[in-house]
Amino acid sequence: MHAARALVAGNWKMHKTIAESTAFVRELLALEPDFDAIDAVIFPPFTALAAAGEALRGSLLGLGGQTMNDADSGAFTGEISPLMLLDCGAHWVILGHSERRASCGETDAAINRKVHAALRLGLTPIVAVGESAADHAAGRTHDHVVLQTSAAFDGVTPDDVARCVVAYEPIWAIGTGLSDSPAAANNVMAQIRGSVSGLERTRILYGGSVKPDNIGQFVAQPHIDGALVGGASLGAQSFADLIANARVNATR
Ligand code: 13P
Repeated sequence: MHAARALVAGNWKMHKTIAESTAFVRELLALEPDFDAIDAVIFPPFTALAAAGEALRGSLLGLGGQTMNDADSGAFTGEISPLMLLDCGAHWVILGHSERRASCGETDAAINRKVHAALRLGLTPIVAVGESAADHAAGRTHDHVVLQTSAAFDGVTPDDVARCVVAYEPIWAIGTGLSDSPAAANNVMAQIRGSVSGLERTRILYGGSVKPDNIGQFVAQPHIDGALVGGASLGAQSFADLIANARVNATR
């Protein structure tokens, strides 16, 4: 059996000041989303993490970092360590987002080190995988995402794999308004789930142009346990609508 609770994760990317982040949290909590039935986590930029953590303290809204280094501390200019995320009240971290892979040169090996570091310190990683438009067109989606998934979890025990979350984000669907079809995404995610021992027990999210009006169709699929959302997670009302619509349609 897979995990029953749906997860809605809001990746803010490089958006929002401290004031905007705390205003979002206040506005969202005032809308009283039903956190009893669903897990929801926001991923503000590092500069706003501590303030957002303060604003959501005592609520069931989760907090995470958008990336991290695998070292606890050291001479790594510009980097943020897992301990620093925990220090801000974050218990989640996105690892291997395609934007980090593309613009910051993050390799599968680096992402694997980060997965080990996150698990060692009790952070829950959301490991992002996904194929480019070219790989998609060439029919290489399956090979590509299975390779990325196995590399990310290399040397991780099945019980620890089960503590992680995977996000399938086809790169061509990110920020384009062209989401994958729920059935096609579900197919790929079934292959991801079967690729590493332990994933049969974890949540796999879909990401790529998820909006309040299509999230229900995604979570209604058997292998889709929630969504990793960019643009539509930036407004408090929109994020509350994502939570409400995921809750109604979640199958497991
Ligand atoms: P959009 O929801 O804006 O397409 O972004 C998806 C994403 O990259 C989330 O990590």
